[in-house]
Amino acid sequence: MSEPLVLGIETSCDETGVGIVRGRTLLADAVASSVEEHARFGGVVPEVASRAHLEAMVPTLERAAETAGVRLDEVDAIAVTSGPGLAGTLLVGVAAAKALAIGLGKPLYGVNHLASHVAVDQLEHGPLPDPCLALLVSGGHSSLLRVEDVTSTVEPLGSTIDDAAGEAFDKVARLLGLPFPGGPHIDRAARSGSSVAIDFPRGLTSRRDLERHRFDFSFSGLKTAVARWVEARERAGEPVPVEDVAASFQEAVCDVLVRKALDAAQDQGVEDLLIGGGVAANSRLRAMAEERAAKIGVQVRVPRPGLCTDNGAMVAALGSEMVARGRTPSHLDLPADSSQPV
Ligand code: KG4
Ligand code: ZN
Repeated sequence: MSEPLVLGIETSCDETGVGIVRGRTLLADAVASSVEEHARFGGVVPEVASRAHLEAMVPTLERAAETAGVRLDEVDAIAVTSGPGLAGTLLVGVAAAKALAIGLGKPLYGVNHLASHVAVDQLEHGPLPDPCLALLVSGGHSSLLRVEDVTSTVEPLGSTIDDAAGEAFDKVARLLGLPFPGGPHIDRAARSGSSVAIDFPRGLTSRRDLERHRFDFSFSGLKTAVARWVEARERAGEPVPVEDVAASFQEAVCDVLVRKALDAAQDQGVEDLLIGGGVAANSRLRAMAEERAAKIGVQVRVPRPGLCTDNGAMVAALGSEMVARGRTPSHLDLPADSSQPV
């Protein structure tokens, strides 16, 4: 029998994603984003995102099937993000997946969004080593996970105690007058700035904090420090060196993320570090992780940027792994769970 053809649907935030894989081979990854509709609000508006998913779902499904060169009734299983995410947007994807599963008579697999950010790497770099460590950094999450089996055993080691890393990028970008989502703009501005121009704080790295929060993150103090620094310049009537602020802020975020991820890898005796989520697209984070990991014999795996941000391929990748490992499909009353743990 040929490998299973699995369709994955992602709607946990503002991207309507439909991916199709055969085994670990990516056949289609169609994404429609409502990000431009949220830009003027400076953040994702759940109601607007839910409506956009409803409008984009059928065209995105059609586009994915056409790209993959398959008919929907040829698919062997339907996977869908069941959480965590925005309650209203998750519901649109879950409802669409149930309709397909019932209409086509195919099994339904509810998958965890964080685990699927990990699983997607298999489409690019082959099977995940067991165990491995995952650093997931996006607009909604910043977590360190120990992954034994991405379909069943993912242990959270730490996470952010306030803002997510991507959220910090977005808020600081706003302070600097850069468009939403801010991450890519800060990344670009930082290339012509100095990362040592301003010594911004590294959250939860003091000896005392490390005792309780060794693998946790905190970015709200950093964001406030940037805001104060910018305000002081403006009060003094001096221009704000956007590139230097961007580079110094980015350095502070990446320094903490990489330091803690590699500390966790050593603590857990794990030799592979996977970085996923939208912030994994950051060029400085990639370079710093590779440079520091090489010194301690840790391999870094980062999917290409298009697979780091939310997409349907990641859901199909995890669904396919569940089928391959003989996991039991979900019931057709699968709920959308906005705070689903990994
Ligand atoms: O994974 P994702 O698409 O959606 C969530 O689940 O949140 O991540 C989006 C986040 C945004 O905060 C965005 O600013 C950030 O990822 N991001 C970046 C970069 N590209 C996207 N942050 C830093 N550098 C980048 N190059
Ligand atoms: Zn995500």
